[in-house]
Amino acid sequence: MAKQYERPLVNKIDPASTSKLGVSPKHNLPKKEDIDGVSVDELTKNHGSPLFVFSEKKIKEKYNDAYAAFSSRYENVQFAWSYKTNYLKGICALFHKMGSIAEVVSDFEYEKARALGIPGSDIIYNGPYKPFDSLVVAIEEGARIHIDNFGEILDIKKAAQKVGKPARVAIRINLNAGTTHQWSRFGFNLENGQAKEAIEQLAIMPEMNLTGLHTHIGTFMMDPHAYQVATKKMVSFFNEVEEEFNLTLEYLDMGGGLPSLSHLKGVYQPPEIAIPTVEKYAEIICNEMKNIKSQTPPMLIMETGRHLIDEGGTLVTSVVADKLLPDGRRSYVMDAGVNLMYTATWYNFKMEASCDVEGKAEPSIINGPLCMNIDVINEFIMLPRLERNTKLLLSPMGAYNITQSMQFIRYRPAAVLVTEDGETLVLKKAEDLEAVEFSEELPLRLRLKNEA
Ligand SMILES: Cc1ncc(COP(=O)(O)O)c(C=O)c1O
Repeated sequence: MAKQYERPLVNKIDPASTSKLGVSPKHNLPKKEDIDGVSVDELTKNHGSPLFVFSEKKIKEKYNDAYAAFSSRYENVQFAWSYKTNYLKGICALFHKMGSIAEVVSDFEYEKARALGIPGSDIIYNGPYKPFDSLVVAIEEGARIHIDNFGEILDIKKAAQKVGKPARVAIRINLNAGTTHQWSRFGFNLENGQAKEAIEQLAIMPEMNLTGLHTHIGTFMMDPHAYQVATKKMVSFFNEVEEEFNLTLEYLDMGGGLPSLSHLKGVYQPPEIAIPTVEKYAEIICNEMKNIKSQTPPMLIMETGRHLIDEGGTLVTSVVADKLLPDGRRSYVMDAGVNLMYTATWYNFKMEASCDVEGKAEPSIINGPLCMNIDVINEFIMLPRLERNTKLLLSPMGAYNITQSMQFIRYRPAAVLVTEDGETLVLKKAEDLEAVEFSEELPLRLRLKNEA
């Protein structure tokens, strides 16, 4: 006799939230046969399972809605695509075509943006570590360098002397926006005077052309009020810097952090009140921007990542096995593991099936294919019995999964874009042995006898 399964505390699933999780009281899984008109079966037949599928329609809808929310409230808005959120070339190109400049946080990401054809002048170079040589290139190419620390000021000064022209710089600022976890390790702190001290140093250096101020208060910020506090503080500092140092700054960059429509693990989110709209964030930020005293309104830069791409991505994954565990749960082994979906740590993904799945719901656990006990996608969910080869669609999957996925045990899958015209474009091929071993060497003396 199977033991009665006790619900783990971390995943409080209450009946009111089950429909949000993809389980209706009738115990069927919502059916989704296609993604923007392209059949899921066709997609996996042509590109394999598992498969990341991006929707051009959804990505454009999210971008256009967010841009309209800000630009209808403030006259000078620029979006900068946060590369680390998803740096597939095709995804970055899509955001650039819609009008985003690039926001990068490493020399690698900087090179990626340049290789895509983005001029240095349209790149914001952020991050806590910028190697000296990359600073030289960024200065030569006129990138906007957001300084993180005092040591970096010295590096930039030296790099600018080497290049023979001033660097276009802003400082990253961290501040107390009333959030539980303050992101205080990036940039100069506002409240303890370090931000002011950095400006004082920069203002007298001929190697520096101070053009803006930047903050990024965190990610998945569910409370728009935090942006009110942050923008108020940044605007006040902006006015102070312009007045005291007789400077005209080009822009205020308020970073990213807006949430996507995700269901967080361990947090009960009543569907109606869970996630504030992008309009709410825009209203708060833009209202505060109006208190900037400059004659011409400076540019407001938003580095929104997750909010724009998360819901545009789905992971299609197939059931490859199932068994009854001693605690009463049915364990499903899927062909996609947590190594592909970093956000499985935080999200209870929405779950749909590409075929009819109905029946009596039973306590279930969704596992991946890794031969590791930690490979758990959802440790408790009430599900009707799933047949082998049933395809599940997990979402939102567009943010931070492709970039933070790890090749482990299995090959990583392909990623495709379903276009507005119903075409399917490959953004990334599935890995094979050659791709995985591309950078490995087998020293001669370790070669096995019969190896060519
Ligand atoms: C400097 C900076 N800008 C933008 C982003 C994008 O944040 P999000 O995806 O939460 O919008 C991040 C992510 O942490 C960041 O560090």
